[in-house]
Amino acid sequence: MSTDVMIHADNLTKMFGSVVALDRVSFDVRKGEVVGFLGPNGAGKSTTMRILTCFIAPTSGTARIHGHDVFEQPLEARQKLGYLPQRAPLYAEMTVWSYLQFAARMRGLDDNEFKSRLRKVVDVCGLAQVLGKDIRTLSHGYRQRVGLGQALIHDPPILILDEPTSDLDPNEKAEVISYIREIGKERTVLLSTHNLSEVEAACARAIIVSKGRVVADGTLDDIRAKSGRVRYVVSVHEQVAEGDHKPPKAGEVQSALQGLQGVSTVREIPSDDRAHSFEVIIGGESDIRAEIFRLVVGKGWTLLELHRDAQTLGDVFRDLTQGDARLARGLRSKDAEQEEEEDEGDEDSDDEDDDEDSDDATNEKKDGRP
Ligand SMILES: Nc1ncnc2c1ncn2[C@@H]1O[C@H](COP(=O)(O)OP(=O)(O)OP(=O)(O)O)[C@@H](O)[C@H]1O
Ligand SMILES: [Mg+2]
Repeated sequence: MSTDVMIHADNLTKMFGSVVALDRVSFDVRKGEVVGFLGPNGAGKSTTMRILTCFIAPTSGTARIHGHDVFEQPLEARQKLGYLPQRAPLYAEMTVWSYLQFAARMRGLDDNEFKSRLRKVVDVCGLAQVLGKDIRTLSHGYRQRVGLGQALIHDPPILILDEPTSDLDPNEKAEVISYIREIGKERTVLLSTHNLSEVEAACARAIIVSKGRVVADGTLDDIRAKSGRVRYVVSVHEQVAEGDHKPPKAGEVQSALQGLQGVSTVREIPSDDRAHSFEVIIGGESDIRAEIFRLVVGKGWTLLELHRDAQTLGDVFRDLTQGDARLARGLRSKDAEQEEEEDEGDEDSDDEDDDEDSDDATNEKKDGRP
């Protein structure tokens, strides 16, 4: 393993009774990376993070933090980690200051080290106004900031943050994300969130998990290209500019486009009455803009519009995880629904509760304390 691998997950499998929460999850996060960890409810994000932070043991597989095995050398691994669990474990009756001091002492900092770290943490987490307040009086957003503060107090090189922006208002979310971007300049961060725009704002890379498996891992551009479908919009003028070419008919343009290599479907789309416009879908990631241009020019037609739509991260996320999300809501897949409709003889009302593990997805988040 290369020495700049800060987080290493190797074939992590976790069973909770008969529920497979993780199924051979493997990935590496390298020094200086800020990686978004995405997946629908119940996909296994928190479970992965809890294994990486030494709170629960995997059923099989191994994990290393900064080169330390999380179960053979848990103290060394924890020393390198700051962890914000999904439900930040705060002591409501403590003031922010005394809680952070407590967290610092737990981390082995002496009082002088604490004071100098506190200044930095208060500054970056925006805690100056609330240092003397009891945690129970704080808004959720401020509690989240205190949670981040405890994760940072010992200046760890690796941060594992489980939905740090959930339940924050839009301003607070933006602040926390800009802050994570800032701290990510010097640290390695694994960040779980349901908000794809946050990933686009803070991360260069993402890992998507679904039903306990890694279904995508790469730069955001790689992931956007992963849907395996690219859409082009092509508009051709219905008149020709000059020469002895005949004005093109819609069907002629359509079949010419259909003849290009890699094209799977061509569909006419509405346009103004000067143009024939088509949506062209290709299977695969190749770029056929040049071929479209040459085709149109070769025919003597006039190209009015040509653009290639990259898939958004949201499109790809939905493609990769939709079945999982429907299952988590206790819904059936579209195919199953269709089969059900086609099944005329069946008069029994269908029991929607047959995905017995689906309820689990929203229950029992027993995050540990730092
Ligand atoms: N302590 C537990 N006991 C039993 N099942 C559990 C436990 N913790 C998690 N699970 C199950 O493991 C699966 C993965 O859960 P996990 O909390 O890791 O998902 P998640 O991706 O973090 O979801 P969310 O986005 O809702 O936080 C779910 O089916 C969940 O019900
Ligand atoms: Mg979770």
